[in-house]
Amino acid sequence: MFEKITVVGAGNVGATAAQRVAEKHLARTVVMVDVAEGVPQGKALDQWQSGPVEGFDARVVGANDYSLSEGSELFIVTAGIARKPGMSRDDLVKTNAGIVKSVGENIKRVAPNAIVIVVSNPLDAMCYVMREATGFPRERVIGMAGVLDTARYRMFLAEAMEVSVEDIQAMVLGGHGDTMVPLVSYTTVSGIPVTQLLSEDKLIPIVDRARNGGAEIVAHLKTGSAYYAPSAAAVQMAEAIVLDKRRILPCSAWLQGEFGLTDVYCGVPCLLGRNGLERIVEITLTDAERTALHASAEAVRSIQVIV
Ligand code: NAI
Ligand code: 2OP
Repeated sequence: MFEKITVVGAGNVGATAAQRVAEKHLARTVVMVDVAEGVPQGKALDQWQSGPVEGFDARVVGANDYSLSEGSELFIVTAGIARKPGMSRDDLVKTNAGIVKSVGENIKRVAPNAIVIVVSNPLDAMCYVMREATGFPRERVIGMAGVLDTARYRMFLAEAMEVSVEDIQAMVLGGHGDTMVPLVSYTTVSGIPVTQLLSEDKLIPIVDRARNGGAEIVAHLKTGSAYYAPSAAAVQMAEAIVLDKRRILPCSAWLQGEFGLTDVYCGVPCLLGRNGLERIVEITLTDAERTALHASAEAVRSIQVIV
């Protein structure tokens, strides 16, 4: 258990993530920070009061500044604006870059040794902004997208095959956008290659639906984007770090030559443990997957230069 975890942004993703952090006993104190007056304080008190029912002892507190976040070992950053129908994640870039920059400067000031999980969109570019703002090493600035994109892919596959989601092993790499790369060659069902169980004409629509998983939810909600699965995904990464689980999860990481890519944030298999990003796991890709990964990384790079 950590002493303190701070969630920045007490909106849909942030507040749900804070509740999950408390329910999973990942920290003694959970802090929510948001610019909206009263919102982090009110939501925190409400969540803390669920402790006696849910059986957690974490203190959940909220603030409009970083005074309570001093010395936090981990930050989950969800501050920013979310997508509305017709908006791409990249449309959020300018507004959210300013927000994430100021969040990063505050994190550096109050918790210079912290690990940061970035959630704000456009995800990979916001990881870049966070790393620039904090000056932290790549081990301590990682992005959440691949766990979510993979969860969507696993759910759709489980539905199609009528098997447990738990038995689907898969990984979606690349940037968190339309160019993301679901790896069919690494998708198995209890070790059985998925291509033995689903024909290509069934697999292709599933891959496409996973790629558009976020937009599908935005189209339903109309006033915002997904938050239950995104918060679960961010907290799975937090859990791997807090409990030093050494899980291999697809996360956005600052690449330095891995997969032939340099100076770009992109989703790749990452081993997460107590130090944050412990290792990037380089795997063999088919030619098509490698080409798609490079195209996806270049799409991220084109926004990285704007921010
Ligand atoms: P939301 O609008 O419900 O919450 C965002 C919160 O950030 C608001 O409460 C707002 O007051 C706060 N905020 C704005 N500026 C701030 C600042 N400078 N400091 C602290 N808080 C600030 O949005 P939601 O649904 O929670 O999404 C949050 C972000 O996460 C969006 O950018 C969204 O696109 C992104 N997202 C990313 C996902 C991923 O896979 N990486 C998945 C889902 C959402
Ligand atoms: C999602 O994939 C909007 O990035 C967010 O749901």
